[in-house]
Amino acid sequence: MGVGLIHLEGYQALKNEVDVVAICDLDETRIAEIGAEYGVPLRYKDFNEMFTSGEVDAVSICLPNSLHAPVSIAALEAGLHVLCEKPIAEKAASAQKIVEAAAQASGKFMVCYNRRYRPDVAWMKMAVDNGLLGHVYQVKAGWVRETGIPAKTGWFITKAIAGGGPLIDLGVHMLDLALWLLNYPKPLTVSGDVQANFGPNGLKTNRKPTDDALPPYSVEDSANAFIRLEGGTLLNLEANWASHTKPGKDDLYVTLIGTKGTIEFYVENYASENTVTFFTEIEGTPTTIHPYIIGQPSDHRYAVAEFVKCIREDLPPTATAEQGLMVMKIIDAIYQSAENHREIALEVSSK
Ligand SMILES: NC(=O)c1ccc[n+]([C@@H]2O[C@H](COP(=O)([O-])OP(=O)(O)OC[C@H]3O[C@@H](n4cnc5c(N)ncnc54)[C@H](O)[C@@H]3O)[C@@H](O)[C@H]2O)c1
Repeated sequence: MGVGLIHLEGYQALKNEVDVVAICDLDETRIAEIGAEYGVPLRYKDFNEMFTSGEVDAVSICLPNSLHAPVSIAALEAGLHVLCEKPIAEKAASAQKIVEAAAQASGKFMVCYNRRYRPDVAWMKMAVDNGLLGHVYQVKAGWVRETGIPAKTGWFITKAIAGGGPLIDLGVHMLDLALWLLNYPKPLTVSGDVQANFGPNGLKTNRKPTDDALPPYSVEDSANAFIRLEGGTLLNLEANWASHTKPGKDDLYVTLIGTKGTIEFYVENYASENTVTFFTEIEGTPTTIHPYIIGQPSDHRYAVAEFVKCIREDLPPTATAEQGLMVMKIIDAIYQSAENHREIALEVSSK
């Protein structure tokens, strides 16, 4: 149990609203330890048994990517509410099945796009929605690491399970943020390329090429894409797990460039303050504004709280299965473009 533990802590922080009654993992020793430490009475190895136990109303799904769709669908079919980690699937076809199951389900389905709930991101959303940037004609988004190939358990570097490397792991967050800030315009065309310069050679990872305990490295370690969006906005995306850059760098960014102003959102090594800069003109004078936004330590906690609020107040989920699917269609198209060395047409503009 990796990020699942952070979800657990998020639920337990909502003391008067949620009881954490059960956890499930194949690793029985680990859940026995976690169950004892966090006071969770029921522990399951089989997720179906937990879903049909009658003991739970809602679940967080935090599994290797290719299990997200089948396990989310099983939970929805059991009548549960589902908060599913990103990416919601390893490919768009599996994400499509979640959309169909969610449409039939009595429970709610929400994607854990936790970075949306940062207060600095909320400030940017307010600025875009209130027209402070004018027409946003270009977005640059990315996540860049010096060293950070997650190869300890093996599934992250296995294409059949993960669906890909940093593009689907980190790029998925940045794609969602960029699209969400623009109110999810339709993607029209996608051109992309992926490369693996470090992982297969055992560089910038804890895996060595001779390490037989892990599967072969079958994903990319860097990805770049150029996406045309409906309404005339261009989106440049980069995502990598490894590169020769400032030691220890693990930075994410979104720059929104508009006809009235530009916002640079830059998060250096998970910083929560001084992340937003707004460039505009006041009475013809170029002006730089640094909004003072109070940071928050855990955006996961806020995503969990948002999920619980949607259930308790019967509100539509804020990060929908359809949005998860759209991101997966773009990711699939980037891989397809990289393989075929050509631009991929996705949707025809309705405007
Ligand atoms: N939103 C974020 O910022 C964020 C951060 C980290 C991870 N994630 C996502 O969360 C997911 C999990 O990542 P992780 O780092 O926690 O991975 P992990 O490998 O640490 O944990 C996955 C867990 O799933 C368990 N598991 C595997 N198959 C199972 C099955 N059939 N039944 C029950 N348990 C099973 C494993 O034993 C393991 O404990 C991934 O999709 C990842 O992309 C998101």
